[in-house]
Amino acid sequence: MFFTVNEFEQPCRCSSVEKYLQPFQLSPETLQEVSARLRKDLLRGLGKHSHHKAPVKMLPTFVRATPDGTEKGDFLALDLGGTNFRVLHVRVEEEAQKVQICAIPQEMMLGTGEQLFDHIATCLGDFLESHNLKGQTLPLGFTFSFPCEQLEIDKSILIRWTKGFNCSGVEGKDVVQLLKEAIHRRGDYHIGSVAMVNDTVGTMMSCGYKDQSCEIGMIIGTGTNACYMEEIKNVKRIEGKDGRMCINTEWGGFGDDGCLDDILTEFDVEVDKTSINPGVHIFEKMISGMYLGEIVRLVLVKMTKDKLLFKGQISEALGTPGRFETKFISEIEEPDSGLENAKKILTELGLDWDLVDASVVRLVCDTISSRSAYLCAAALATLVNRIRNNRKLGHLKTTVGVDGTVYRKHPTKLQKAVRLLAPQCDITFLVSEDGSGTGAAMVTAVAQRLAHQSRLLEESDGEDNEEEEEEEEEGQ
Ligand code: GLC
Repeated sequence: MFFTVNEFEQPCRCSSVEKYLQPFQLSPETLQEVSARLRKDLLRGLGKHSHHKAPVKMLPTFVRATPDGTEKGDFLALDLGGTNFRVLHVRVEEEAQKVQICAIPQEMMLGTGEQLFDHIATCLGDFLESHNLKGQTLPLGFTFSFPCEQLEIDKSILIRWTKGFNCSGVEGKDVVQLLKEAIHRRGDYHIGSVAMVNDTVGTMMSCGYKDQSCEIGMIIGTGTNACYMEEIKNVKRIEGKDGRMCINTEWGGFGDDGCLDDILTEFDVEVDKTSINPGVHIFEKMISGMYLGEIVRLVLVKMTKDKLLFKGQISEALGTPGRFETKFISEIEEPDSGLENAKKILTELGLDWDLVDASVVRLVCDTISSRSAYLCAAALATLVNRIRNNRKLGHLKTTVGVDGTVYRKHPTKLQKAVRLLAPQCDITFLVSEDGSGTGAAMVTAVAQRLAHQSRLLEESDGEDNEEEEEEEEEGQ
């Protein structure tokens, strides 16, 4: 087999267990097929007339250049959409930054937009106060990790919430405006120009500062998504033919039109059905951190009901949605301490386990996280193959800026699989250190550098013209 699932000692109940896990095991041919389907969806998203209905939205970001490493500056950055909301003060050239993490309570994630943005403005105000920055007017990079129709770098309309957020009165509105209004309501500080970016773009930009061949940003954490540099002539919905633009694929929505139904398991269907946004972001629900723990839990519940685990006894915790956390999966999969961790976690979940139960649980965790890594690899292979075809290259060497706990915990499975699925691409993976926060600042820094360079060009053009005029005068 191409991918072996069972790296652990085969527990004796394995043959009965296999029946539950088999639907999660995708052959290389299936992964190639998934990649081919995504390739078609990328085209639909880029098309002038097809993008409205496309499940993979392919959103233009108005980011036309990646860093060249000379960027400088002092910025504020906000980062909303991962596990925590963060406020940062970034000095690009020094890589220095101060960070403050603020919780967003669950009720606020489901409350009104005004409450959410007032909270963000308060956190920013407290941060400025405690770092003596209130008197300054710094440019602000806003990483907002949800699908947005970006009209300009500082005008971005939320298409829909994902990842458990559902604040009223925000979908269809300009998020930058909502932030500015909240700051205005307080009236005790000012911010400079705002650049809004998706976390994938932030990741690509911050990794691009260190490695200039970074042209893809990928997140596989709470949610999943990727962006990449596309040829502008292929982005049919915007004017222009020259150069490149970063496209936020929103690949989490892959499958929302039913095109992945043949590989969904009954557990994926259940996770989707019980989520706050059924039918939306199907691919994300199969592979990202917000959902993996719940998939494992549902499999374990079914096996227990069928008397394969825990002597047929489901504890209260195991029967409760959300109680099997995604972080348990990586703890249970640890090569050395995994079995011990499994025992501890199963005890904490109130389960009456034996050694075979613990091994089966490891196998379930491994199967589900492997599927996540392989599906993510298939999607990434689609992007690198597309870039290679766009540039008519026999061989592409590129760097992927990547972030998210699911990647950090399982880097090798994903890397190995993507190399097999995109053999003509030589991919370096660069893990972003806080990219989604600093990257937004980097977008502003690149814009400032480009403006500075074009001013210098204009000035030198001016000088050349003057020289030419002088020469002409001398010649006369
Ligand atoms: C969700 C969001 C997307 C974001 C991703 C990773 O898929 O829709 O914008 O990039 O999560 O955080």
